[in-house]
Amino acid sequence: MQQRSLGSTGRSVSAIGLGTWQLGADWGDVSEDDARAVLEASADAGVTLFDTADVYGDGRSEQIIGRFLADRPGHEITVATKMGRRAAQEPANYTPENFRAWTDRSRRNLGVETLDLVQLHCPPSEVIDADVTYDALDDLVAAGAIAAYGVSVETVAQALSAIARPGLTNVQIIVNPFRLKPLDEVLPAAAEANVAVFARVPLASGLLSGKYSSATRFADNDHRSYNRHGEAFDKGETFSGVDYETGLRAVDELETALPDGVSLPAATLAWIASRPGVTSVIPGARNVRQAVANAAAGEMEVDLSGFDTAVHDVYDRLLKADIHPQW
Ligand SMILES: NC(=O)c1ccc[n+]([C@@H]2O[C@H](COP(=O)([O-])OP(=O)(O)OC[C@H]3O[C@@H](n4cnc5c(N)ncnc54)[C@H](OP(=O)(O)O)[C@@H]3O)[C@@H](O)[C@H]2O)c1
Repeated sequence: MQQRSLGSTGRSVSAIGLGTWQLGADWGDVSEDDARAVLEASADAGVTLFDTADVYGDGRSEQIIGRFLADRPGHEITVATKMGRRAAQEPANYTPENFRAWTDRSRRNLGVETLDLVQLHCPPSEVIDADVTYDALDDLVAAGAIAAYGVSVETVAQALSAIARPGLTNVQIIVNPFRLKPLDEVLPAAAEANVAVFARVPLASGLLSGKYSSATRFADNDHRSYNRHGEAFDKGETFSGVDYETGLRAVDELETALPDGVSLPAATLAWIASRPGVTSVIPGARNVRQAVANAAAGEMEVDLSGFDTAVHDVYDRLLKADIHPQW
């Protein structure tokens, strides 16, 4: 598995990481044994980045990761957590005191003295733009509570604002064949500033696996049922904000441009990982089979130029007019 520099931290992370929202079991059911099996299969396959958050299962995802890593001494895994969504998304809540309390809770959940990396969890733009935000984060680094910080964002404008901050280690943003805008400015700006980029929701919540149809039904407690129009959180986080039926049409077209013997999810992950400026792609895996397949995509050596042409063509025709102005 290719390992890449994590900004200027001196750490390396794998080109394919693991997203662990699903392991919190806020949506869908994942037992602790199954969650551990996914972590183990990923780590055994060379994955060295786990992305989590204090709100995933209200700490369950962090705790399972903490217990797993405690049983794996000498591991070289970086845990990137997030903070800021245990309170209302109001600028007044992003205080140094809350930052300290939130990070202390994550340190306990993960069982570590110093958090490897903490990302602000899609805060309001005012928070991303404010000097005091970064002063407080710098203080946490100086105090040894966190080793590094980043920002998870919704929009290109937010990403560019964060990248301009000298102490920033990473931005996390949606990048996938249904979300091409970050390719234009965010990836070049991040590379120039030596800021790492984590590409989240790389399979558009599973749409880019190619396994869904118009008849597919998701469980009531699955965000792919209850957040299709942004009812619970930013609508871009479910199917990347793409209308479901339009997404199915786009998937059909992309499937005609796959290299021989390569599946759509594998091509998608490898394509994202090979965009200059992307540090790590963080798919969510619900089971060991998905975890192993996703990690393998990081080692694939295949010509994706035809797929790349199709991605841009499909995006320009079917998606750009709706998606580009929103994020
Ligand atoms: N605001 C934020 O910062 C934020 C928001 C969202 C996500 N994230 C991070 O990004 C990570 C990834 O996002 P995500 O899980 O929402 O979306 P995703 O990675 O685009 O999609 C995950 C879904 O894709 C399907 N899948 C995964 N691997 C597969 C494979 N090899 N073959 C077939 N299907 C496969 C599974 O669907 P099935 O369940 O149908 O099997 C899985 O639930 C999260 O875990 C989290 O760490 C961060």
